[in-house]
Amino acid sequence: MLRLGLTITNNPPMITVNRLVKDFGYNRVIDGIDATVSTGEVVVLIGASGSGKSTFLRCLNGLETLTSGEILIESTPLERNSKSLKQIRRQVGMVFQQFNLFPHLTVLENIIEAPVHVLHQPKKQVIKVAQELLAKVGLSDKQNCYPGTLSGGQCQRVAIARALAMHPKIMLFDEPTSALDPELVGEVLTVMKQLAEDGMTMVVVTHEMGFAREVADRVIFIDEGKIVEEGPPAQIFGNPQEKRTQAFLGRLSH
Ligand SMILES: Nc1ncnc2c1ncn2[C@@H]1O[C@H](COP(=O)(O)OP(=O)(O)OP(=O)(O)O)[C@@H](O)[C@H]1O
Ligand SMILES: [Mg+2]
Repeated sequence: MLRLGLTITNNPPMITVNRLVKDFGYNRVIDGIDATVSTGEVVVLIGASGSGKSTFLRCLNGLETLTSGEILIESTPLERNSKSLKQIRRQVGMVFQQFNLFPHLTVLENIIEAPVHVLHQPKKQVIKVAQELLAKVGLSDKQNCYPGTLSGGQCQRVAIARALAMHPKIMLFDEPTSALDPELVGEVLTVMKQLAEDGMTMVVVTHEMGFAREVADRVIFIDEGKIVEEGPPAQIFGNPQEKRTQAFLGRLSH
């Protein structure tokens, strides 16, 4: 798939967010977000701690009830308690800062768990797919290892393979490299970059601005639950228009 910004935004929408509001008690955390993510697009979300980035991702994955507004995955609304919610959620993979692997299962067992027990796919077929995914993330030799014996970067690559084993249409990443030692960040970003090149639709919260510059089609800056500014990375990083974006990026570079 061509990864040129203009081409991507002509693709049909994969995610549509209309007037999204999310309150926790009296705290308005998402304050009227409208956004569209095109099929195959890579969007990077940036913003200060507490600005609502994780909450927004959790809404996209159906993990939060929405206070108001709507989210469509392709053309299907993500409605809490609806019959379709489970099915849609399976199409949205999520990778967290903490990899959340099952410590008592091997790498291979971690990856096949959901396809076998949730999707009820034949084990033999799932193992084959899992092995292909392990090759893709560079961990073919680790399939029988337990997570406790792997590095953080290796665990995160297993977590990515595990999410991909559900054949998602969308991958959400919430600071996937923030818990890693600096020398392990690159191997995870390389896998994510490959995924982007393969045409996966991705929404990524990250502080890795090099990754954002290189891989994102669009960068969205969120502050206090609102989109303050968005655009191609060269524009947001090179020539931000809004004072709040300038202040945020200024703080990052010091
Ligand atoms: N389950 C919850 N219950 C109550 N308040 C919450 C909950 N989850 C998040 N919040 C609040 O929502 C606000 C936004 O949190 P969120 O985790 O989305 O921010 P963030 O941009 O991801 O921050 P960070 O960069 O630190 O991860 C914060 O004020 C937080 O305290
Ligand atoms: Mg967060």
